[in-house]
Amino acid sequence: MTFTANPASLQTAPSHLLADRYGTAVEFGLDAAWNDSLTTLLSHRSVRAYRSDPLPAGTLETLVAAAQSAATSSNLQTWSVVAVEDAARKERLSKLANNQIHIQQAPLFLVWLADLARLSHVAQQRGLPYDGANYLEMFLMAAIDASLAAQNAVIAAESLGLSTVYIGALRNQPLAVAAELELPKRIFAVFGLCVGYADPAEIPAVKPRLSQAAVLHRETYQLETQDAAIDYYNEIMAAFYTAQQMNVVGDWAQHSSDRIANGDALRNRAHLREILQQLGFELR
Ligand SMILES: Cc1cc2nc3c(=O)[nH]c(=O)nc-3n(C[C@H](O)[C@H](O)[C@H](O)COP(=O)(O)O)c2cc1C
Repeated sequence: MTFTANPASLQTAPSHLLADRYGTAVEFGLDAAWNDSLTTLLSHRSVRAYRSDPLPAGTLETLVAAAQSAATSSNLQTWSVVAVEDAARKERLSKLANNQIHIQQAPLFLVWLADLARLSHVAQQRGLPYDGANYLEMFLMAAIDASLAAQNAVIAAESLGLSTVYIGALRNQPLAVAAELELPKRIFAVFGLCVGYADPAEIPAVKPRLSQAAVLHRETYQLETQDAAIDYYNEIMAAFYTAQQMNVVGDWAQHSSDRIANGDALRNRAHLREILQQLGFELR
């Protein structure tokens, strides 16, 4: 098992990048074409400590152009983003998101929105019906659109030497987040995203993923055959937690299962359906 624990020796060779991504040497992929885009993708790590340096002028707009370059269902573009740079607003949002201090540290906090308000408004302006916006399918479409856009922004940011971390905890108190950002009905803040320069003293190692034996299926899906890969991943992650001095209770299978033990494990988010309905999503 190999981990690039020392950020000073960030790897760029494909064999090293693949080994870091899986926590062990792998034998595929190395004969295929490789390029800087793949290096950026495989080098991803979430960063939770930022320098206070501002971003260069135009960075936000570049990230949004990258986000808008993602595919979007039927070109409906059912997403938007709120860029938060005001220190007081970032602090209030961080309090709503489990006091995650990196929200305050990062110079830019992007809140990605599933946005059915704009499309409903367009129809309304034309005097056209928009009852379809009340269906679960449209909410899912908007959440997918927002996610694809956000991930494009992440890749763009990382390609520019910036770091990011998604903030799903922004869904802990959706009504308060909606009030803070003055969101109209039919808009839901899917997650936040910190963007900034990583504190060089706290760049984490690349976190290994399940081997492809678990996630890659050919022609049809197989569940039971994944067990060996999952067992091996538990070992890899145990070594990773030790190497990174992370205080994780239980192995990956245990603490991941804990997340779906019951509704209480989802905390406030167990009530998302009712909250979404209050935000104007009927989810029919
Ligand atoms: C939708 C989403 C929400 C997340 N929310 C949080 C969060 O609230 N706080 C946090 O520290 N990390 C958050 N993360 C980061 C994940 O913990 C991280 O991606 C995962 O542990 C894998 O690590 P890596 O990104 O460094 O590879 C989130 C990631 C995603 C995709």
